[in-house]
Amino acid sequence: MKIIHHIKDLLSEVNRLKQEGQSIGFVPTMGALHQGHKALVMRSVLENSVTVVSIFVNPTQFNNVKDLDKYPRNLDRDAQLLSTVGCDFIFAPEALDIYTSDELNSTFSFDFGGLDEVMEGRFRPGHFNGVVQIVSKLFQLVQPTKAYFGEKDFQQLAIIHRMVDILKFDVEVIDCEIVREESGLALSSRNERLTVEQHKKAIEISKVLFESRNFASQMSPKELIHWVVAEINAVEGLEVEYYDIVNSSSLQTIDTWNEPSVGCIAVFCGEVRLIDNIRYSQQLTVNS
Ligand code: PAF
Repeated sequence: MKIIHHIKDLLSEVNRLKQEGQSIGFVPTMGALHQGHKALVMRSVLENSVTVVSIFVNPTQFNNVKDLDKYPRNLDRDAQLLSTVGCDFIFAPEALDIYTSDELNSTFSFDFGGLDEVMEGRFRPGHFNGVVQIVSKLFQLVQPTKAYFGEKDFQQLAIIHRMVDILKFDVEVIDCEIVREESGLALSSRNERLTVEQHKKAIEISKVLFESRNFASQMSPKELIHWVVAEINAVEGLEVEYYDIVNSSSLQTIDTWNEPSVGCIAVFCGEVRLIDNIRYSQQLTVNS
């Protein structure tokens, strides 16, 4: 496994791989890797001749400086994990290698078609501009055949699909299922920041989401939203920022269950902001 820091070195490897006709699997990350990332990398290794993982805490997608400062970073530990699963290249650039100072100080613009106006986009203004900015740059550099993203960031994934359509990237985006602890808590780099007590409380988030599926046939989406928010807010130390049940393609709030639906949540557990989501449509199909 090779660790590359500079764009010119990455490009020379990518050009060679392209000339040799090798397929490139790509897993973009911000490091602090866990079993969820590991699952993405393992899938890429299975499906491609070469796998590239980027590790870059992208400053332009953080709307909160404190969150950016506190984001866990540990390249040695990440490299250790990646070396055990067959990753071929780590690309770990510095911000000034990736961005000009103008880019760092302005907002990247993109036609989101409204996908950025709800949920994460509403509470983290500019977040998805930064995500599209970095992922489009990385796609141009790595030129992947397939790119792997986790469904925990459901809205991000919808936006990446739109970005690939609009910017005409020749890449297959692969949606990968959420990886959870045995307790149900969705794996996240942010879980590292939870104390033991907070971790116990955070488990309630996925518990309530899973339980909510049992009520979907008796309640309207709106009633179910209220139920979920009340149940989670009743746990001391948890505070829901939003919970919405949306159409899984348009991301617009649904009024009835007659569409493919997903419930997306953001919850503060102390200072740590956690997200998760759950699909309802499959459950309703099974019940009906
Ligand atoms: O999901 C993430 O970790 C980040 O948003 C991504 C896709 C690596 C872009 O910085």
